[in-house]
Amino acid sequence: MLCCCCQTCIVMLSACAMESHHIKPFKATRPSSPLSGEVSVPGDKSISHRALMFGALAVGQTRISGLLEGEDVLRTAAAMRALGAEISRDGADWLVAGRGIGGLTAPEDVLDMGNSGTAARLLAGILASHDIFSVMTGDASLRKRPMKRVIEPLKACGAVFTARPGDRLPMSIQGARDALPLTYTLPVASAQVKSAVLLAGLNARGITEVTEPEPTRDHSENMLRHFGAQVQVETLGKGRVIRLTGQPELRGADVTVPGDPSSAAFPIVAGLLVPGSRLTILAVGLNPLRTGLFECLREMGAELTIRNPRMQGGESIGDVVVDYTQLAAVDVPAERAPSMIDEYPILAIACAFARGTSRLRGLAELRVKESDRLAATAAMLRAGGVLVEIEGDDLIIHGGTPAGGGLVETHMDHRLAMSALVFGQATHAPMQIDDASFIETSFPGFVTLMRGLGASITAP
Ligand code: S3P
Repeated sequence: MLCCCCQTCIVMLSACAMESHHIKPFKATRPSSPLSGEVSVPGDKSISHRALMFGALAVGQTRISGLLEGEDVLRTAAAMRALGAEISRDGADWLVAGRGIGGLTAPEDVLDMGNSGTAARLLAGILASHDIFSVMTGDASLRKRPMKRVIEPLKACGAVFTARPGDRLPMSIQGARDALPLTYTLPVASAQVKSAVLLAGLNARGITEVTEPEPTRDHSENMLRHFGAQVQVETLGKGRVIRLTGQPELRGADVTVPGDPSSAAFPIVAGLLVPGSRLTILAVGLNPLRTGLFECLREMGAELTIRNPRMQGGESIGDVVVDYTQLAAVDVPAERAPSMIDEYPILAIACAFARGTSRLRGLAELRVKESDRLAATAAMLRAGGVLVEIEGDDLIIHGGTPAGGGLVETHMDHRLAMSALVFGQATHAPMQIDDASFIETSFPGFVTLMRGLGASITAP
């Protein structure tokens, strides 16, 4: 996607790629032989956003290797540039020359966060405690998503938000001049909301305190420490209290981004479903607050082996080896949702081929993702001939040998598109999807990688 000749070119190419959602229908067909190979998936999306944001707020240079060059992250890069940070590419690495906390400057134009809820919500936190005026928008999917969950806590620091009815984007933000530190208990398990509050706290004098009744991914806490902030975490029952000391001097740091476990999930499930397959996914992030899917797959009987477990830049990583397995149904407790919140569509595909009836519990948060993922996942399975029910916030999947042969509507949702393409690797008749273009938001090169493993994905 990026050219290496000059920075102007990089900016222009990224912008072009981001604007060009030419609809790409695809057909996925059962391959004639098993999937096999050893691959790396692109960098972790959550960590990539944070590396660019913290780099922009630090003093000195941040070097990021393994940054996800997907559209969501390029939106964050563009926004941090518009706020005054210098961001460039150096070979395969990215360099950020930060402005220091409080040093961001007002953007001249609207900040367009594209399809990315994480970019929008984390940036809202940063902007809330910078005395600048900005306007933020996003694509048709992001403009439907609720921003109240960040506006509510952030306005207490003194920022003024004006959003469309229903607290939707576009919204304007006048950041506080002397932001107050926040004390906030998360009403929903959301790492985005936790991170937004912590990011606002970076430019507030005193201690910012976030209580999360259920632990959510802790990449912000880990990376804040890595950049020199004081972050204390106390366990409280099942949850945690996080305390950040405001106005630290963040120092530019080196960040190595692990492979995204949420992206690795797609080839892993494909390997489990296509008879005879054996795949290795190298250097996958294995932060325990992200590995709920692996726990579920193991409970279903999956052959998943972690080789070479190691630490890299404060995060655990390892190589995941997966062998085809006849899976059994699973009952997934609601408490596991935060550690696998993005993996339900692909887990649902695994359940469709499992022996017995699976129940995935407590999926209310899926309704406010890039699409209504609860309804869309059920519709995807039905399109492939699977018997599915939604009971309250639970998804019930009757497993077996799905016939396939249907068309899946992906609703501008990358994870539905990738799940449906994996689905078609194991159904009797091929599956089609209306549009694969949004896969670029999180997993550039997905189709090529899957084809390299032996998957059959073609233009219809
Ligand atoms: C993310 C948190 C999760 C997840 C999203 C990335 C993050 O969202 O779904 O893809 O990087 O903090 P919620 O905070 O809404 O659960």
